Amino acid sequence: MTAKSKEEIKKEIYQYYQSQPRIQEMYTAMLTELQETFEALSPELLSEAAEVLEIKTSVLVCLVKFSAHLKLVDYKHKLVVCTGEGCGRRGNLSVLQALKKELRIGKDGFSQDKQIYLTTQNCMKRCKEGPNLTIDGEAFSHMTVEKALDVVKSYLSRHV
Ligand code: FES
Repeated sequence: MTAKSKEEIKKEIYQYYQSQPRIQEMYTAMLTELQETFEALSPELLSEAAEVLEIKTSVLVCLVKFSAHLKLVDYKHKLVVCTGEGCGRRGNLSVLQALKKELRIGKDGFSQDKQIYLTTQNCMKRCKEGPNLTIDGEAFSHMTVEKALDVVKSYLSRHV
């Protein structure tokens, strides 16, 4: 018998809890099982789970906050790449791919050491300055692949 992959286990968890009553105890039980599978809960996992349960992600974030045994992945830096229409069209999709490769970001959005979380936003409302990205909330505009790699490397080296 082959061992189930984490993705298969996750699917089973989702399937099971989709048919359960939508009550807090069930949400907590589902998060506990997800955490046992993935060691800690990532923002991405929480928003996916919320989608499955058809509830707001903030409900699950709140549950994690107030449950002593549930743990959100602790990361150091958050990179957000704008993939809205304007930025996407002007090269930010290549920037996103290049950053994923350079920082070795996994499917869960985290670097191998879980220190960097890379995610996207659908328009940062600064289209004129695009392509845009933010690092820990600091905005960087007019990005190209080369510029973005430079900016990220130098930011990370300054904020170890
Ligand atoms: S599309 Fe990127 S800021 Fe609007």
